[in-house]
Amino acid sequence: MKLQQSYKKSLQKFLQCENIFLFWKGRVGLYAILKAMRIKQGDEVILPAYTCVVVPNAIIYLGATPVYVDISESTYNMDINKLEAAITDRTKVIICQNTYGLSSNLEKINSLAQQHNIYTIEDCTHGFGGFYQGKPNGQFCDAAFFSTQWNKPFSTGIGGFVITKIASNLQLEKPKYTPTLKDNLSLKTLYFVKRYLINEFTYWPLVKLYRLLSKYNLVLGSSSGGEISSTKMPDNFFKGFSSAQAKEGLRNLKTLAEVMKVRKQNAKYYSELLKKFDKHHVANELFENHGFLKYPILVKDRDLFLNLAEKNRIELGDWFISPLHPIIGDLTPWQFDAKLFPVASFVSQHVVNLPTNPANIDKVLAFVEDNINIIV
Ligand SMILES: Cc1ncc(COP(=O)(O)O)c(C=O)c1O
Repeated sequence: MKLQQSYKKSLQKFLQCENIFLFWKGRVGLYAILKAMRIKQGDEVILPAYTCVVVPNAIIYLGATPVYVDISESTYNMDINKLEAAITDRTKVIICQNTYGLSSNLEKINSLAQQHNIYTIEDCTHGFGGFYQGKPNGQFCDAAFFSTQWNKPFSTGIGGFVITKIASNLQLEKPKYTPTLKDNLSLKTLYFVKRYLINEFTYWPLVKLYRLLSKYNLVLGSSSGGEISSTKMPDNFFKGFSSAQAKEGLRNLKTLAEVMKVRKQNAKYYSELLKKFDKHHVANELFENHGFLKYPILVKDRDLFLNLAEKNRIELGDWFISPLHPIIGDLTPWQFDAKLFPVASFVSQHVVNLPTNPANIDKVLAFVEDNINIIV
């Protein structure tokens, strides 16, 4: 408990907020927020048509309907011009997202929400460490949820938390389940592997092994077994946070400021290079505030690009390879019709994420330049 309190205090200081609640994963935090907003069958929740499948799942677990809005190719976030048309008298919440660390147009979203008396939630799972209008991400909506899963701005392996605005008066329920001894031991083993066994030679084989083992529930994964391929809530879903996670979080928070600085600088290098070759790049005006967890680019042939990167030992990301990542194929269980969201569909077929935290950025820049003809 002591570790959890210290972790909470560090997060409060970093995010300049008071109300903070810890959960086993970010998605569990979203579910808790929706519950506190009393979302139920028949309600509609608006969200970007380019997200992780666990987001519509949390809505569906409560019997509500996800209503998607296509994204804009320049921001990778909800196209603000298409938002109002999605609002009906059943809409209860708008979820906006910091995709890759890029913030949404929160003034416009909040002003529409106020006009229609709708709650807003910010999905800050990619956005911890970034700022919007001079304030840390997560401050502009009624509530925000964050993820500290692997590859997030800072990691506890698996983990998440929620912040709520005091004025929103949201009462979050306490999680029903607590992490088990086995959960804690599994996490500690994974922390050990990540810290001592991963290097540029072992990264790809170990990531592939981890993904395979977690698919069959043989190690603690971000999503257990059938969780993401179904809309059914897994057993023990509504789970709290453990002291092993808090300890790891406290450790990794210490290096965050330095990591954020490196990320922003590396993102600038990518933009300069892409601009030089007249390629699609993140707009300059998006630079000041954002966290740049990843730097998204669009490529003509993703398999080819990813294979070349693997051969060159460059760790590229593949978020989001589907509008509802990582589901490939039939999205109807999530009430998603890809034809209605052409931008999200195109982007999810062509996007690759460049790493923003490599020590050796020159190697990645050289790789990008060598393969510039594959880039859109
Ligand atoms: C956009 C988005 N929202 C929500 C989540 C869920 O976070 P967690 O894995 O901590 O539940 C993710 C996970 O990566 C995500 O990418």
